[in-house]
Parts: sequence; structure tokens; C-alpha cells
Amino acid sequence: MTSGRAPVRVVVVGSGIAGLTVALHAADAGCRVTLATKDVLEHANTRYAQGGIAGVMFPDDRADAHLQDTLIAGAGLGDPAAVRVLVEEGPARIRELIALGVAFDRAADGTLVKGLEAAHSYPRILHAGGDATGTAIERALVAALRTAEIRILEHAFLVDLIRDGDRVVGVDLLIGETDDAEGHRLRLDADAVVLATGGAGELYAHSTNPDVATADGIAAALRVGAAVADLEFVQFHPTTIAVGTPFLVSEAVRGEGAILIDDDGRRFVFDAHPDGELAPRDVVARAIARRMEEQGGRPVLLDVSPLHPCDASARASYLARRFPTIDAAVRERGLDWSREPIPVTPAAHYLMGGVVTDLHGRTSVPGLYAVGETARTGVHGANRLASNSLLEGAVFGARAGDVIAGDADEDAWTGPGIAPAPAASDSAASDPSSSPFPDPVPAFSRPLLQRAMWDGAGLVRDDGGLAHTAALIAAWRAQPRTPRREKEYEDENLLLVAAHLVAAARARTLSVGAHYRRDTAPTPRSPAPNLVVEGSS
Ligand code: SIN
Repeated sequence: MTSGRAPVRVVVVGSGIAGLTVALHAADAGCRVTLATKDVLEHANTRYAQGGIAGVMFPDDRADAHLQDTLIAGAGLGDPAAVRVLVEEGPARIRELIALGVAFDRAADGTLVKGLEAAHSYPRILHAGGDATGTAIERALVAALRTAEIRILEHAFLVDLIRDGDRVVGVDLLIGETDDAEGHRLRLDADAVVLATGGAGELYAHSTNPDVATADGIAAALRVGAAVADLEFVQFHPTTIAVGTPFLVSEAVRGEGAILIDDDGRRFVFDAHPDGELAPRDVVARAIARRMEEQGGRPVLLDVSPLHPCDASARASYLARRFPTIDAAVRERGLDWSREPIPVTPAAHYLMGGVVTDLHGRTSVPGLYAVGETARTGVHGANRLASNSLLEGAVFGARAGDVIAGDADEDAWTGPGIAPAPAASDSAASDPSSSPFPDPVPAFSRPLLQRAMWDGAGLVRDDGGLAHTAALIAAWRAQPRTPRREKEYEDENLLLVAAHLVAAARARTLSVGAHYRRDTAPTPRSPAPNLVVEGSS
């Protein structure tokens, strides 16, 4: 805290790893912090993270190797300076989590257990509770938050950011809405507002995300004119259980040796990439989608028999110990993966794009910060490397929390200096002129939007499908609606971000990373030229 002035007032919106980390760091720096979250603290995407957190924690691993893996997975579109920050500061943040009580799994000799996931050249993934890493992290951070001098507002929905001139000066919240009660509005003035509201999984018919992932922060940032980029880069996780509601089957399962087979029992992913099941996530997800199409829509199979190949009962106890959360979900669905392959299918998982920030979470709008999945820091490029998301939340959350107090003393706002990828302007995003509204326009509903996004702006795209989806979204946005309830505000946020996402996907006519256009030639996957890296700024 700077001397002689009132504490800097910070409002953090969102309670995943990024938001909690910002709040704790800003409070440590003397800020007066309020953390607002639309559900209870623990109901954030972080809690559902299974595989783990990546970090250079072992003496024979190298930050440069993690950097290289990240840039290659990102199809060469990552920002090397941001990735350097991520990989070099990651270990300190992981040690901070350990100090807060996160019990990463350890071997009998006390050393951290190493996990491998796709596209990592080294097994640098730490996990806790087998496959309950996010839960362990969320729990430790929430416990720390509750003992810090931080005001906590649960069931506090971000209706909008409040502006004064070009600066964000607070938030307009809807507090305490329930099924039976409307809730009330609360205006909070702030010197700094941090968006940590997660991504946009709720845009898609099939998603690994909880239903709170409705892009609220990105939509609010768009409404105040903040730069937003890379929304076309949506990561689809290759493997969710294809029985009942989608349930994530961690990439760590393939990291331990599980394989993907088709109806004929063939390992088809090698057709797409020499690394097979451990190829970058976008490659594996598309290979599955293609094979599913070829076999009449039937899911492919995840076969865990290579784990303890000769002994199904040893396999069963290993799976229950190493992957207890997934094991329970598999069994709840009446399946026994220790004996038989299980059907799996891709689902929307993570948004690489978001609100453009500098290396300390500052957006292009003074007073406004973004962290975690809400932000586009540049670390993920066109496809995020497995287990880099928790790491990003911890690293850039801490960086934002550490600078906010000092920023409040500066006269000039130094936002992101990098040029964002061309972002769709709002007029482009709402312009239906290139495709007429469908006739008749179906009444808007969230499931219809999710289906339209899945079909038209999903894993495999073309201009016809994108144009149709854009027209449908534009028609829905043109329908008069006055949101009053939280779910209605969420719907408006989803529509706004969907419009921008689809416009960005139409504008990027070449395939790269997670953005795949079947109507244009693919861009060769190349890490160049971004691998020529300089030190972090
Ligand atoms: C997984 O466990 O496969 C998901 C981890 C991640 O999204 O990085």
C-alpha cells in the first residue's frame, strides 16, 4: 500500500484460481479487496480440473522445454514473452500453493509424483487426490481467502462494469437472486476491477464446464470497448464419457497409457499425428470427430487395458486409486472401464481467446484487469497445452494482484502493448448482411444457441455453417428482450460473445490450431517464428 492515501479499492469478479490468487495478492499488497462471485465461492471451473498443473519442478526439466512445448501446442501463435513469464514464474506459484496446503500427490519417498499429458516433452504435471487437482487447489485458496481481510460476496452476479469517461470505476451487481426472490442491485465503486469470470463453455451443446461458464466477464469487457481477441480459438477436449451428461476423462489417462480405438479396434489417431493419443489436444479431438463421422456418429472407445495389461483386478484398483473421480463417474454410468473400453466423444473445454491483457493483467481500458480464462494473455496461442490453465491463473493472477496498488499511483495507464489479432468489431459481430436472417427465426433459447454453436462453430467449421450461425445469432440479438433475471443477463452475454466468436472464426479463413476450417487448406503446424524468444519483459 502506498503511504498517505486511502487503500486502493479492488473488486475481483470470479472465484477460480485466477480470481482467488489476485484477491490474495492484492490484499497482501494492502488493497481493500472485495471478491464477488455469482454462485458460492467453490463453484468455479477450477474445481473441475482433473489432470493437474504443469510446472518445471524437477531438476532434469527445463523452463525452455516447457516454453517450447507451449508454443508448439499453440501452433506458433503464442506470445513468447508471455510464455516465458508463465514457465519461469510457474514453479514459485506452485510452491505458494503447496505452502497454502495443496497436497500434491507424492511417492513413498516424499517426492512429487510426475504426470504426463499430451504434447509435453517431460512428465511435469503435478496432481492432487489422483484426478482431483482443481478441487484441492480451490479448497486451499478458498480457505486462505476466508482468513484474509477480504470482503466476500457470494450470489453476486456482474450485471455490468461502471465507467466514468474512459475508465472503469466500479461494478453493478445483482445480489442474492434465488428461484423465489428477485435479488437487489448493488453498485460498488472501485479503483480497479478484475475480471476473473472464466470462459464460455456454456456456449456449446456439449461442454466439460459447469453451467456458470457464461462468458460474463468477456461480455462486460466488450460492452466497455476493451480489446478482445482470439475468440475463434475454442479448445475441444478429446475425451468426455459419451453416456449421460458429458464428463471429462482427463488426458492424464492417456498419459498413463490408455489408447483410443474405433469400432474395428484400430488405433486411428496415428493417421493424424505420429504422437498418436498424445498429440496436441486439437489434433486428437478432430481425429475423433472425423472417425465418429465415418462410423455413423458412434463414439470412439477409450481402452485402458494397457494399464496393468494382464490383470483386470489390479487395473480396477489402480484406476480407483489414480483416477477416483473419473472412476466414480464411469461406474455411475453403469460402465466398468477396468474390463471394457468406454465410449468417449469431444466436448468444448476451454477458450484460448478473451480480453487482451499485458503481462500484468491490464486490459486496454484503464482501471480494468482480466485474468485466467477470461484473459487473452497470449500464452495459449491457437491451442492450449494441457495443464497450463491452472498455471496461467496462478501466475498472471499473482502478477495482477501485485501491481494494482502501484498502478493506482500512476497517472498514465499502461495497457497491453501488443497488437491483438484482428478482433471482430461489434458492428461486424452484429451485422447479418452477409447472410439473411433465417426465416422463420426460431424463438431464442439457450439450448438452441448451444446447438447452433456446436453445429456451426464447433470442432470443424466452414463459411456456410458460420454464416448461418452468425445470421441466427444476429436475428436473436435483434429480438426485443429486457433482461431482469440472472439467467437472462447470462443469455445476453452468451449471445454477444457468440456473435464475436463467430465473426472472428469467419474472419480467420485459414485453419490453425483449434480453429479448423474444412473449406480452406490447413496451415502447416509450425512453431516458427515465435520460438526465437527473448527474455520476459
Ligand atoms: C485434463 O485433465 O485432461 C484437463 C486438463 C486441462 O484442461 O489442462
